[in-house]
Amino acid sequence: MNEYLLFHYGTSSELNPFGFIKESHLHFPERTVRENLDVDKSFKRALDLGCSVGRSAFELSSFCEDVLAIDNSRIFIENAETLRRNSTLKYHIHTEGNELIETFAKVPKSSEPKKIRFQVGDAMNLSDDIGQFDVIHAANLICRLPEPKKLLNRFPHLLNPGGVLIITTPCTWLGEFTKPDYWPEGSTLDWLKDSLSPELLLKEVKNMPFVILEHHRKYQYSLAQATIWSKE
Ligand SMILES: C[S@@+](CC[C@H](N)C(=O)[O-])C[C@H]1O[C@@H](n2cnc3c(N)ncnc32)[C@H](O)[C@@H]1O
Repeated sequence: MNEYLLFHYGTSSELNPFGFIKESHLHFPERTVRENLDVDKSFKRALDLGCSVGRSAFELSSFCEDVLAIDNSRIFIENAETLRRNSTLKYHIHTEGNELIETFAKVPKSSEPKKIRFQVGDAMNLSDDIGQFDVIHAANLICRLPEPKKLLNRFPHLLNPGGVLIITTPCTWLGEFTKPDYWPEGSTLDWLKDSLSPELLLKEVKNMPFVILEHHRKYQYSLAQATIWSKE
């Protein structure tokens, strides 16, 4: 929990205590929204799948009228909801060994928490009456799903015409989450194209580096592949 809260809400100096990580590689859950959507536009309904502790949902609320944010972890959703209601949430940063620093996650300034609904749910089994969305954001989720195709097959139906789908994945396929039979046969990008085209149009492919701080001297440095899709 602490690691996720730091990844989502840490300040630059908290995320990068020794200053050797590029600023542009920090704040991933903010960047997946702001770098992949036209933030000068406004959108009606947004869906954030695998929202974890909620940072991207708060970002979406700045320019979407309504944000539904779903994660199958009750504890993540409870923390996101506590932050939404109270505007701040205490957590700890692990520096080393038994040493922890107390800090606070804060709701981002431009966000509109009232527009967000955090909900426990399974991205592979979304309810039939969930409706359609103008923005769908699924950051680093698909390679955590036991049967990712169940979600990929739903995407074209979940998106409104003119809508935007943002998928990021570090393509870290692991048996503990997804049995190898359900991994892409070739590249994740080709598999996404086969799954989503022609219903959705691939607008952009890019690399998005991100860093997760485990403790002050241990970092997970990864490179997510972002694909942006639209429905004409
Ligand atoms: C690697 S994290 C990414 C979290 C967040 N989107 C981000 O970019 O930091 C994957 C998230 O997906 C959630 N998750 C895993 N399986 C899920 C499922 N079947 N339905 C909904 N959420 C799921 C996990 O609880 C976790 O919060």
